[in-house]
Amino acid sequence: MKAWGGLLNEYADWFDLRDVKEVVTLQEGATPLLHAERLSERVGADVWLKLEGLNPTGSFKDRGMTMAITKAKAHGATTVVCGSTGNTSASAAAYAGKAGLNCVVLIPEGKIALGKLAQAIVYGADVVQIRGNFDRALNLARELTQHLPITIVNSINPDRIEGQKTGAFEVVDVLGEAPDILAIPVGNAGNITAYWRGFTQYATAGKSAVLPRMWGFQAAGAAPIVLGHRVDEPETIATAIRIGNPASWVPALEAVDESHGAVRAVTDDELLDAYSFLAKNESVFVEPASAASVAGLFRYGVTPGAKVVCVLTGNGLKDPDTAVQTTSTPGVVDATIEALLERLS
Ligand code: F0G
Repeated sequence: MKAWGGLLNEYADWFDLRDVKEVVTLQEGATPLLHAERLSERVGADVWLKLEGLNPTGSFKDRGMTMAITKAKAHGATTVVCGSTGNTSASAAAYAGKAGLNCVVLIPEGKIALGKLAQAIVYGADVVQIRGNFDRALNLARELTQHLPITIVNSINPDRIEGQKTGAFEVVDVLGEAPDILAIPVGNAGNITAYWRGFTQYATAGKSAVLPRMWGFQAAGAAPIVLGHRVDEPETIATAIRIGNPASWVPALEAVDESHGAVRAVTDDELLDAYSFLAKNESVFVEPASAASVAGLFRYGVTPGAKVVCVLTGNGLKDPDTAVQTTSTPGVVDATIEALLERLS
């Protein structure tokens, strides 16, 4: 069996890598596209799940990070920075470490999931908590590049979007063509932009006869694109997408308009319902933000029989607090067979 070489090697023809001597990879990509029988039945469509939580650091960010860190290194960077709701920081920390670069991550104090915080620290990043939300952290990361020789690896760095477009390539490679609908959570709006680029590039090259409608879903308390204005105090249980002023707002809207898609909102309760449904019925444990793509199908419905791909962006283990707090604590019994039988009767 030939080893998977990571995205920059496997999809090398789709990137401009002329300035790159050495690829920085953790063999990201090639994530499963799982057919979801019970979900398909519930919404009356043919639904597939793109399991991005199975990337090396547990989220889709690794697709963009292999490119961003590879390029940063090729261009002589020694330190990278990002503002993050958690997953970007985990990914940046891991890929920077692999490349031998320093990594500074700026995170909103108290508002990132425990697993992500643990990852950034253990991978060896310099983690700074900001008294402010993600939007503020991203602005500070941008500002920092004016003061220090440091490369920003948020999705405002075009290399990130380039790497992330491979998610669309993989979907088409497995299905044989693009689905009718791509459902995806939207936070800073980089990923929906990247998927659309991937689908359009593949279609232009004759690899798919069709293009999908792009359906983006924001959390209702952090839905600036849906509302049409910035949200100064975004709030949602899905901390990954607790964002009030998305950096890729304009290209995301272009993707939605060109594809005849939509960006709509789902409530935290709807997110948690989809989160629980996925775990119990499809045995896929995602973090709450990822469930937005499925919550959106439940809330708004789907054209009967349509082929739908839901991008499940991050692993459920990232956010153990939400998992435990939104479910009941298992009871305790004495360590005797009698007590156990009594409990199970
Ligand atoms: N899902 C997860 C699990 C995320 O971590 C993010 C973004 C999104 C969806 C939204 O993707 O920003 O491209 O629209 N997380 C960023 C971070 C902001 O810092 O980790 P987007």
